[in-house]
Amino acid sequence: MPPLGFSIRRQSVVMEFEGHITPYVIITCILAASGGLMFGYDIGISGGVTSMDTFLEKFFPVVYLRKKEPHHENAYCKYDNESLQLFTSSLYMAGIVATLFASYTTKTYGRRPTMIIAGLFFIGGVVLNAAAVNLLMLILGRILLGCGVGFATQAGPLFLSEIAPTRIRGALNILFQLNTTLGILFANVVNYGAEKIKPWGWRLSLGLAGIPAVLLTVGSLFIVETPNSLVERGYLQEGKAVLRKIRGTNNVDAEFNELVEASRMAQQVKHPFRNLLERRNRPQIFITICLQIFQQFTGINAIMFYAPLLFQTLGFKNDASLYSAVITGAVNVIATIISIFSVDRVGRRMLLIEAGVQMFITQVVIGVLLGAGMKQDQKLTRGTAIVIVLMVCTFVSAFSWSWGPLGWLISSEIFPLETRSAGQSLTVCVNFAFTFVIAQAFLSMLCRFKYGIFFFFAAWVLIMTIFVLFLLPETKNVPLEEMTEKVWKQHWLWKKYVRDVDLSDDEAGDA
Ligand code: BGC
Repeated sequence: MPPLGFSIRRQSVVMEFEGHITPYVIITCILAASGGLMFGYDIGISGGVTSMDTFLEKFFPVVYLRKKEPHHENAYCKYDNESLQLFTSSLYMAGIVATLFASYTTKTYGRRPTMIIAGLFFIGGVVLNAAAVNLLMLILGRILLGCGVGFATQAGPLFLSEIAPTRIRGALNILFQLNTTLGILFANVVNYGAEKIKPWGWRLSLGLAGIPAVLLTVGSLFIVETPNSLVERGYLQEGKAVLRKIRGTNNVDAEFNELVEASRMAQQVKHPFRNLLERRNRPQIFITICLQIFQQFTGINAIMFYAPLLFQTLGFKNDASLYSAVITGAVNVIATIISIFSVDRVGRRMLLIEAGVQMFITQVVIGVLLGAGMKQDQKLTRGTAIVIVLMVCTFVSAFSWSWGPLGWLISSEIFPLETRSAGQSLTVCVNFAFTFVIAQAFLSMLCRFKYGIFFFFAAWVLIMTIFVLFLLPETKNVPLEEMTEKVWKQHWLWKKYVRDVDLSDDEAGDA
C-alpha cells in the first residue's frame, strides 16, 4: 500500500529508523481498537438499563418499589442496593481473573488470537444478557462479558503500542480509548431510545452490544500479528515481513535489529511475573499501580456507570437523566479526540496537570452546589441542575483528555519487552480491581457521604496531581526500547533503581 504522503525519520542516540504512517497501520489499528468499543458499551449500558422501570421491576423489585415511593426519606439512598451494584461490578471481577489467562495467551500465542478469544466471550455474554429471564442469567452474562473485557484490554493496547511508529504511538494507542468512549456514547444513545420501548427495551440495550462484539471478532481475523510478538515467539522472517508491510519500506533493518535484541533479552526472562518484582522494575510497577488507582479515584465511573441514576437522584425525570448521560458521553468522545492530537505534542505530564486542576475545581463546585441545593426540599432548582450538568461535563472533558487515555497509554509504554505483557496484565488487574470497588461501592457511598462524595474525589485528584508533578516522568516521543536510558536513568528518584543492571546476572540468580 502506498504511504500516506509523509514519512517519519526518527533520530535516536542509538540508531535511526525509517518508516511511513501507512494506511495499513491505520486500518489495522482501527480494527484492533474495536475491543475498546465493546469495553465502552459495557461501561455505558448498565447505568441506563438499571434506571429503566421495566428492568428494575423484573430483576430488582425492592429497588423498584423504593424508587416509586413518592417521598423517599433520603434521595441519596434510592439506589443503594448490593445486587444492583453487583450487576455492574461483576463484570470487573471476571475481568481481573481473565486478564491473568490473557497474559499467557498474549505471550504464548500472540496478540491477535487473544483478541479473537475476547470477541467470542463477548458474543456469549451478549446472548445470555439479551435473553435473560432471571438474575442468574444476567450476572452470568456480565461475567462472560467481563472475560471478554479482560482479554481485549490485555491485547488491544499492547497491540497498538507495538504496531505504531514511535512518533504517533500515543495517538494510535488512544484509539483504544477513543473507541471506549464511542462505545459508552453508543450505549447512552441506545438507552435513551430503548427506554421508550416497553417492556423489552432493556433487552435491546443489552443485545445491541452484539454489534461491537461481532466487529471485534471478525476484525481480529483480518489483522496481522505484531512484529514484536512474532519475533518474541521465534518467527523472525515473518516478523521482518510484517514490519516492512506496516512501515511501508524495505529499509527496516535498524528497527528490526533493535526488536530482535529486545526479544533476546526478553527470552532470558523465564518468570515474567517474578521478574516484575525485581528492583529495576519498581519504578514501572509503582507508577502503573498508582496510575490505575488514581484513574478510578478521579470518580469518573461514578458518572459513567451511574450518571442516569445520579441525575435521577438530583430530581431529573427518566428521560432527562438519560439524555444528560448522552451529553456527558458526547463530551467524553470529543475530549478524547483532543487528547489524540495533543498527547504527542504537549506531552503526557502537561495534560495530566492541567486536567488535575480542572477536575479539582469542578468537583468542589458540584459538592458545594449539592450541599446547598438539596438540603431542605431535596429538589434542585432548574438553574442549579443545569450548572451541575455543565460542571459534570467540564469534569468529564478534563478526565477524557488526561487520565482516561493516559492511564492506559503510559502503563503500556513504560515496561520493557521482557515484562511488557506481565506489566499490561498488572495494569488491567489493578484497574479492574478499583473499577470494581467504585462500581460496587458508589451508590452506597453516595447514600452515606451524600454530596461529600465529591469532596472525597476532589481530595484524590489533588493527591494524584502532586504525584504527577514529582514522580511521573515524561515519555512523549521516547522509543519503547529506549525508556531505560532516556526516561528512568534521567529521573531524580527512579535512576536509583535502574542503574546499569545486567539482566543476565539477575536471571542467573532467578533460575
Ligand atoms: C477507564 C474507564 C472509564 C472510561 C471512561 C477509561 O479509561 O478505564 O474506567 O469508564 O475511561 O471513558
